[in-house]
Amino acid sequence: MDVGHSAPIGPGEEAVARCRRLVEPALREAVAVLHPWGATMAAFTLGWSGMDGTPRDHSAGKGLRPAIALLSAEAAGGRAEPALPAAVAVELVHAFSLVHDDIIDNDERRRHRDALWKAYGVGPALVTGDALLALAVRQLAGHPGAMRHLSAALVELVQGQTADMAFEQRTWDGHDRVSTDEYLEMTAGKTGGLLGAAAAAGVEMGGAPELAQRMWDVGRDLGVAFQIVDDILGIWGDPDVTGKPVHSDLRREKKTLPILAALSSGTMAARELSAVLMSGATDDDTVRYAADLAERAGGRTAAQALAERYLSSALGTLDQCLPQARDLRALCDSLVKRVS
Ligand code: IPE
Ligand code: IPE
Ligand code: MG
Ligand code: MG
Repeated sequence: MDVGHSAPIGPGEEAVARCRRLVEPALREAVAVLHPWGATMAAFTLGWSGMDGTPRDHSAGKGLRPAIALLSAEAAGGRAEPALPAAVAVELVHAFSLVHDDIIDNDERRRHRDALWKAYGVGPALVTGDALLALAVRQLAGHPGAMRHLSAALVELVQGQTADMAFEQRTWDGHDRVSTDEYLEMTAGKTGGLLGAAAAAGVEMGGAPELAQRMWDVGRDLGVAFQIVDDILGIWGDPDVTGKPVHSDLRREKKTLPILAALSSGTMAARELSAVLMSGATDDDTVRYAADLAERAGGRTAAQALAERYLSSALGTLDQCLPQARDLRALCDSLVKRVS
């Protein structure tokens, strides 16, 4: 299925749709300077065209990070438009990270279409990811405050991605197992940093730089909640809805929170799950069985509960520094209830 456009999510829906309408032309303008082949590949991964080049109206992603940037700017008392470079930059970094992430994770589907490496090859996908990153940096060349947040997020992102890969080599159980704290640190890096930068750069460009540090904390906690839900969807989600594979994390021995929580539950199902995972089998029946055991061991419920705790922490900080941020609050709230 190639739907090319994820519907906006939850109660913050109208605000996100408004942000998408603002960001889309600026994103297209940024990408237009690329080499024609690079622009074609960027358009494919961003959802603006199919493999056959058929044009589409909307970007394929949810547009979460630019919405956070623009809504943060508005909540800080500014207008959305001056924060557009930050919104475009965070979406470009996000797109770059997904293109490279699918190569790293060997995932073949993204946004209801082939992953870029699958469609065009690894080399072309790598350089397109690099191009998107370069364009992001260029967006913020004249905005040193926002650039400071983006560069901090980039360092966090690569640290988190490295930890995520390193955890694949660790054992599921025993003294070498990955702890919840290690998972949370990795996740705060790979996903939280960019959401933190979106929120911090948003208030900075909305005229309230004094709120940047606390808004970074809001974004980081929200990012952890968001990633935990992504990990839940990676085990129990519907690929026709998420547009990406299910069970791929299990096959790659990704140390995701639902599985770590299940393994530490002390239940019979946890012991069985440990044996199944340690067997190293990755056929369809085995990974389905592992997912089932993880659910029976309480991994899904525990992960959802932790996502909600991180959301509460994000909302608590947001309420302290921007109590009037209704749209942003609604958007945050919707993220842990999402199915895509
Ligand atoms: C996917 O992010 C990667 C994670 C950090 C979990 P999104 O779920 O925001 O991806 P798109 O932009 O909607 O495709
Ligand atoms: C998300 O990585 C974070 C980045 C891409 C930096 P994941 O590997 O957890 O996300 P999905 O599930 O492939 O989107
Ligand atoms: Mg991945
Ligand atoms: Mg990954």
